[in-house]
Amino acid sequence: MSLTIGVDIGGTKVGGGLVDENGDVLATARRPTPADDQAGVIQAVKEVVDELREGREIEAVGIGAAGWISSDRSTVMLAPNVSWKNEPLRDKVTAVIDLPVVVENDANVAIWGEHRFGAAKAHRSSVLYTIGTGVGGGIVVKDNLLRGTHGVAAEIGHIRSVMPGGRECGCGRTGCLEQYASGRALTRAAREGAAETPDKAAVLLKLAGGDPDAISGRQVTEAARAGDEVALAAFDAIGYYLGNSCADMVNLIDPGVILIAGGVVDAGDLLLDPIRRHYEEALANRNQVPFAEVRAAELGSKAGVIGAADLARHRDIVP
Ligand code: BGC
Ligand code: NA
Ligand code: ZN
Repeated sequence: MSLTIGVDIGGTKVGGGLVDENGDVLATARRPTPADDQAGVIQAVKEVVDELREGREIEAVGIGAAGWISSDRSTVMLAPNVSWKNEPLRDKVTAVIDLPVVVENDANVAIWGEHRFGAAKAHRSSVLYTIGTGVGGGIVVKDNLLRGTHGVAAEIGHIRSVMPGGRECGCGRTGCLEQYASGRALTRAAREGAAETPDKAAVLLKLAGGDPDAISGRQVTEAARAGDEVALAAFDAIGYYLGNSCADMVNLIDPGVILIAGGVVDAGDLLLDPIRRHYEEALANRNQVPFAEVRAAELGSKAGVIGAADLARHRDIVP
């Protein structure tokens, strides 16, 4: 049996999995992500790997991290929601674990996991959005991860055609999709809606103790389930931007399936229905030309770990 380890460095936790060649996760480990502490993140990765490798022969480690990763899969050049700049992640981790390491964008590892073992398995081309603090994108074309010339393709969250000149983004520009379609954008829309029209946000405000600014993402989902108008409108708002972006992807890539992943997907159809509605409205020729289904990713929070581990296993084939 050939074993590799996949590690997903997220905003709140560093999660790892011991993965076999079938994409099965045999064991998991996690540590909290230390805030603003690069050395602490390396240490957390080391601890996760050490826990999973104990008594076993491991071939390599794959790491998924947010941000623009260099084409040699070594360095996080820039990450909008993490304070990383030209962080030589691969070499720092290799130095403490002494195994081959491959670093790849967090959404790229997730689509790779879904492509190999999950909801995109039946398709040669697919697109995935991760909806969390940011909006990540991953694209597979003809069984290859689309990495582009410099390694940074598929940064769908920073496509600005949505609203050039709009809200400021962590990437230093304005109007990026991420500012309108992330989990944060959902919460912001709900807070603004509750402040403007409190009579339509009775459930939300009750959950948040009456304070619009105290509304959390989870509460938006709970209130939407109970039919709260403002909460439903917040889902519709991010669904609008995501649905239109999905239609752009159809015009650009013509994928077999479009997957939605990330924490917000726990909301299920509350999120997927508005995306699908706006997507179909935005598609050209939808009655004459076939188009990709939009559905939830299948491997959930494990997609990244499984994809990273698989890329580590096939590390000699750089897509
Ligand atoms: C980053 C992406 C990342 C996404 C999700 C975005 O802000 O630019 O690289 O995939 O957040 O973490
Ligand atoms: Na990406
Ligand atoms: Zn941006």
